[in-house]
Amino acid sequence: MRSIVSRFIPSKSSISRLYTSGLLRNWRLLSTDSNRVDEPFKVEEAETVKVPPPPSDKKLLVLGGNGFVGSHVCREALERGLSVSSLSRSGRSSIRESWADKVVWHQGNLLVPDSLKDVMNGVTAVISCVGGFGSNSHMYKINGTANINAIRAASEQGVKRFVYISAADFGVANYLLQGYYKGKKAAEAELFSRFTYGGVVLRPGFIHGTRQVGRMKVPLGVIGSPLEMILQHAKPLGRIPLVGPLFTPPVNVTSVAKVAVRAATDPVFPPGIVDVYGIFRYSKQE
Ligand SMILES: NC(=O)c1ccc[n+]([C@@H]2O[C@H](COP(=O)([O-])OP(=O)(O)OC[C@H]3O[C@@H](n4cnc5c(N)ncnc54)[C@H](OP(=O)(O)O)[C@@H]3O)[C@@H](O)[C@H]2O)c1
Repeated sequence: MRSIVSRFIPSKSSISRLYTSGLLRNWRLLSTDSNRVDEPFKVEEAETVKVPPPPSDKKLLVLGGNGFVGSHVCREALERGLSVSSLSRSGRSSIRESWADKVVWHQGNLLVPDSLKDVMNGVTAVISCVGGFGSNSHMYKINGTANINAIRAASEQGVKRFVYISAADFGVANYLLQGYYKGKKAAEAELFSRFTYGGVVLRPGFIHGTRQVGRMKVPLGVIGSPLEMILQHAKPLGRIPLVGPLFTPPVNVTSVAKVAVRAATDPVFPPGIVDVYGIFRYSKQE
């Protein structure tokens, strides 16, 4: 987290005002140079310094924190000073990077609801990055049933906010991936019925970034970034019936992670669906 620290040189007349406002004590912490009190009040220099984020009482559980999107979500949350835990079938799995030492890794299967009881203890927000492909029945289970189980457990444990990484509608392609989209829609419906005020669904299209595949890092941005640049300004193409949704621009994984963490922790982030253009917009805000 970055903040600006400026060195101020106050005049005598400004000192009483500063006492009244209580700022002088803070100023004394920044400067002890008492020879300069007669100079007019001015900013002499400003420098950007890195300060650690304030300690947070927010406890975030990332479902699928060892996956492509989940690992970026964990990193973003740690950078924001949150305490982070993750649940997935393989726990930490093969992640070797140092940030992973700061995550509490749980092993569990969302399709076995008993796995979820203990991990939700004291958790204030959940981000689910669990989903995947396969046969239609498998896709329904992993995108739908697994997430429905998690949403129910979280609401029963009094979790305040739940963010679900869903997916953009791909028009005709939805037919080929029926289990995937039906599963996503069922999980979204459960989320909005259980988390009326704290439920957020992100609907990205293709997500690009560096994906860890075994020991290799695959730079998906090589294809994703140029397409993102071209297609994010071609919104009208998305209105063409049937094929329009295929023009959904790809989005960088760090943008998805940033918006997901904000949606999970900012109490005024509006509940509802955030499409890819919303992800672009929110990710540019500080
Ligand atoms: N990647 C994209 O381009 C893209 C685009 C649009 C939407 N999305 C959505 O974004 C989400 C994340 O995608 P991704 O690309 O990061 O997928 P991913 O790398 O395959 O990650 C999926 C995660 O889910 C965990 N998982 C799977 N089954 C589980 C279960 N039964 N119980 C607990 N954990 C389970 C996996 O860990 P274990 O194997 O260890 O359990 C893994 O951590 C998905 O919902 C996906 O549909 C992705």
